[in-house]
Amino acid sequence: MCGIVGYIGHRDAYPVIINGLKRLEYRGYDSAGIALYDGTQIQLAKTKGKVVDLQERASKEITKKGTLGIGHTRWATHGVPNDVNSHPHYSNSGDLVIIHNGIIENYASVKKELINRGYTFKSDTDTEVLVNLIEEIKKEEGVKLGKAVQLALNEVVGAYAIAVFDKNKPDEIVVAKLGSPLAIGVGDNEFFVASDASPFIEFTNNAIYLEDEEMAIIRRGRDVKVRKIGNDKEVKPFIQELQLNIEQIEKGGYDHFMLKEIYEQPSVIKDTYRGRLLADKGIIKLGGLEEYIPKFVNADRIIIVACGTSWHAGLVAEYIFEDLARIPVEVEYASEFRYRNPIITEKDVVIAISQSGETADTLAAIKLAKQKGAFVYGICNVVGSTISRETHSGTYTHAGPEIGVASTKAFTTQITVLTMIALKLAKVKGTISKTDYMMYLRELEMIPAHVEAALKSNDDIEEIAKVFKDATNFLYLGRGYNFPVALEGALKLKEISYIHAEGYPAAEMKHGPIALIDEHMPVVVIAINSDHYGKVVSNIEEIKARKGKIIAVVTEGDTAVKELADYCMEVPKTPETLTPLVTTIPLQLLSYHIAVMLNKNVDQPRNLAKSVTVE
Ligand code: G6P
Repeated sequence: MCGIVGYIGHRDAYPVIINGLKRLEYRGYDSAGIALYDGTQIQLAKTKGKVVDLQERASKEITKKGTLGIGHTRWATHGVPNDVNSHPHYSNSGDLVIIHNGIIENYASVKKELINRGYTFKSDTDTEVLVNLIEEIKKEEGVKLGKAVQLALNEVVGAYAIAVFDKNKPDEIVVAKLGSPLAIGVGDNEFFVASDASPFIEFTNNAIYLEDEEMAIIRRGRDVKVRKIGNDKEVKPFIQELQLNIEQIEKGGYDHFMLKEIYEQPSVIKDTYRGRLLADKGIIKLGGLEEYIPKFVNADRIIIVACGTSWHAGLVAEYIFEDLARIPVEVEYASEFRYRNPIITEKDVVIAISQSGETADTLAAIKLAKQKGAFVYGICNVVGSTISRETHSGTYTHAGPEIGVASTKAFTTQITVLTMIALKLAKVKGTISKTDYMMYLRELEMIPAHVEAALKSNDDIEEIAKVFKDATNFLYLGRGYNFPVALEGALKLKEISYIHAEGYPAAEMKHGPIALIDEHMPVVVIAINSDHYGKVVSNIEEIKARKGKIIAVVTEGDTAVKELADYCMEVPKTPETLTPLVTTIPLQLLSYHIAVMLNKNVDQPRNLAKSVTVE
């Protein structure tokens, strides 16, 4: 977690770094800091709080001058969020300054050793230990900064993306990566460093993504020298041309990124299947999949590993794969999977789902599955992310940057990809009739229009939000394909409004949650036309009998649930298999409006981060 930005070139570094940090705040936002070299000394400002708080402090405390600088936005791991623990951190001499995203696991023993050698520490962070270790190594005659960083990193255990500079050598920044992302923007006589490309996209489309265990020495007006951290082997940097543009990472007139991303769903779902789904011709073609179809078809089972919202997409996929392609599926929290000595064989296919492609637990689960010989397929949104590179093959969702911490468009595009894979496999295996296959392809193509229609209920949903915004608990119920949607709806509400919410399979309500129901309990029920419709109607009756308030998601034209429910949110009719793609829309809007009405920070909810790169 944490976002890092660096600049070395001919511009003022301050605005580049501040704007870059704002774009990376999705990675952490409990404190922020900046260090600039002004021509004679380091100007450093840092504070608990957001980047705007940093700007205020910087205006009072530093000159903001300099064409070399580094900045950081933090999600605390070691040490509470406060001014002192914020990055950047100085070394004891004040010559070196560092920013770090990650964790140094053996920091305590290194710190002890440094204390024995006379070092003192101001903060509780592992990062301050690392910068002093670099300083200690650099003291030795003839050891340059790059070498000192390399030797220090060989002594530590953990994960990092770091950037460090020396005020006595203000023409270079040294960066290194292991387990946390790091991109270097290559401009015209200028270089940028960042956790992803968004901070520098208006300056250059050329980027080098460092691989794990690589470091780079970035020299002003010259070049980027990349080498392995473990040995001195030079690596020829691969400069990649980025497809990202500035509009994609701005709010485009919406009050919040989350709302923009909710409204982008019709177009990004289309982007997800564009060129891959040709409904008229009955074709699904996924570049990463074609060659590996036999692996899937002959697999004993598919194991899906993911976290958070991506895990919910995995649960939806379990229903789809088993129903259409008749392949057994298990869905695992990546964090549990990796620590429970799971049985995995070469006959298993593991699908890792991750929006960011950087989630530490998912990454660790992938590594474990690979070690045990399984074939691992990735479904990621962020192009070039670690998970997309660590997997044997995969499919990108092409949802574009998702900046709101609460995931929305990533979820629906993940389900779109998973549905295409299931349909493709079903066709190859012959577990679906030709008529059904063609019907699903046509229906999948209509999903963007259905999502568009579901979004039209926004004003009505806002009214419903007004009624329930002060509730302290919510229950979300769904069955079958819509049970995971109930979980996701509850998660969205929790994440951004801090209201306690639980998702349950509707029938399970009788085994516990029903005890919670009284006149104060809003119950969101996904009650669309499906095989379970009658049963869900009975569940609604049971809630009503206990005076619970019903907010139902119903299919257009519904009559029975409308008579029973207190409030309804309509979605267009689509085959049950595809309903999660539409039923999730009103739930996203409901949680959004409630959070806005409660004055919560919708895009950056407390304690959360978009990309969880720590275990
Ligand atoms: C964090 C985010 C969630 C996300 C989860 C998994 O908790 O706040 O929105 O679903 O990580 O992230 P991934 O990038 O792997 O999908």
